[in-house]
Amino acid sequence: MSFDLVLFGGTGDLAWRKLMPALFQAFRHGTLPPDGRIIGVGRDDLCAEQYRSLIRARFDKVELAKRPTEEEFTRFAALLEFVRMDLSGTQDYLRLRETLSGRQADTVLIYLATAPNLFTTVCEQLALCGLNSASTRIVLEKPLGHDLASNRAINESVRRGFSEKQIFRIDHYLGKPAVQNLFALRFGNSLFEPLWRREHIANIQITIAEDLGVEKRGAFYETTGALRDMVQNHALQLLCAIGMEPPINAHADAIRDEKLKVLRSLKPWTPETLAQNVIRGQYAGGTIAGAAVEAYRAETGVSPNSQTETFVALRTEISNWRWAGVPFYIRTGKRLAGRDARIVVNFRQTPHAIFSSQTGMANRLVINLQPKDGLELHLMAQGQSNRRNSQTLAPVQLDLDFDKRFGSERVGAYERLLLDVIDDRLNLFVRSDEQEEAWRWVEPILDYWSHDPQGPRPYAAGSWGPSASSAMIARDGFCWFEET
Ligand code: BG6
Repeated sequence: MSFDLVLFGGTGDLAWRKLMPALFQAFRHGTLPPDGRIIGVGRDDLCAEQYRSLIRARFDKVELAKRPTEEEFTRFAALLEFVRMDLSGTQDYLRLRETLSGRQADTVLIYLATAPNLFTTVCEQLALCGLNSASTRIVLEKPLGHDLASNRAINESVRRGFSEKQIFRIDHYLGKPAVQNLFALRFGNSLFEPLWRREHIANIQITIAEDLGVEKRGAFYETTGALRDMVQNHALQLLCAIGMEPPINAHADAIRDEKLKVLRSLKPWTPETLAQNVIRGQYAGGTIAGAAVEAYRAETGVSPNSQTETFVALRTEISNWRWAGVPFYIRTGKRLAGRDARIVVNFRQTPHAIFSSQTGMANRLVINLQPKDGLELHLMAQGQSNRRNSQTLAPVQLDLDFDKRFGSERVGAYERLLLDVIDDRLNLFVRSDEQEEAWRWVEPILDYWSHDPQGPRPYAAGSWGPSASSAMIARDGFCWFEET
């Protein structure tokens, strides 16, 4: 199968950091169809050879094991081309059409890794120039808008040129091996299903912590914040994966229908829950891995009086028969104590205690997303060390380390998702109604904050966020995973 991948934003940050390395890995693994071209699009005046040299230089920043050898890069570079385009004028799209029609590839993939305010123009121009035939697929990177109205406007304009089955909305968290394993755990095994409900589960915690700050993206982050950057998309997609009903089959729409139902069942916000169950924070200076790091407000591109949140912790519920009353806690932030993404399923305590040490002990399933990827099942056992008191239990852990088990066979998130676009598999992509529902749920929080004089609470870089986040969960009688 031949393909042309047209990468708008071909000289942008995402292309360098994620897309090119992912395409190279697919090339190295032999999963990228051999008859393909990768056409970078950008405003710079570059010839193909200069573009290849830029990419070659960028690969030096990629971790060693994923860096191409000279011989590998020479073969990979043969796929790379560059087209200089001014995205607002029709003329350059006609030139792109010429480049594409010269080859007549079986599939044309158009990846929009540009600022989202360009999506509407680009899609209109592509349609105007006939670059939207049935063999074309369009890939949209987040953020798709900054609120419900702008998200709708983008989706509507894309749909004027492309049908829903041609549109691939990326949420790279769905491409992470651990998230696919979560689907496998829930729907490929019968063990947990009977327990996966309010009768057995006390609470669920979703944490996506980063130790990095906003890096060079201060100006972007200022108008985005953690709620839009991480909660509206990645965290809610994880919540859907953990809370959804078993789909009737593995087809994209069967999965997406079930995720949509979860989003529609999220408990609506009230003034009380907005005040008590959503905590926003902003990092102050602090220490990460022994090194002093500066406050968010001192980052380049950030206002010294910024009110943008770099941390969010919230409590919600899924109002349906399976989950009624079970708290779901979501927490994400920059400059936290570590890079740690995990979902913790805390089971209820035993209904009656016969062992002396049993109070407060409960089973738990930890789904580690990163940096390590795997499952931990926490059980209570009779430890050998307790010779004098046979009634004392100790917590033990069953570890399933997927990195060790599957090692180098594991496919990275962007690699997986790019191959899925090439193979026309929509399962791991987000439908427009899911996105809209997520925005609908997130918007009352944004509205509330816009009138809340308190602003984000400061937290020391290298900590787990403001103490109000622990106080919020403690009100339910629980604590965060790392506090146990
Ligand atoms: C992106 C956000 O979507 O996800 C970034 O825009 C964030 O701010 C990144 O750092 C986290 O992704 P990962 O895969 O490194 O956890």
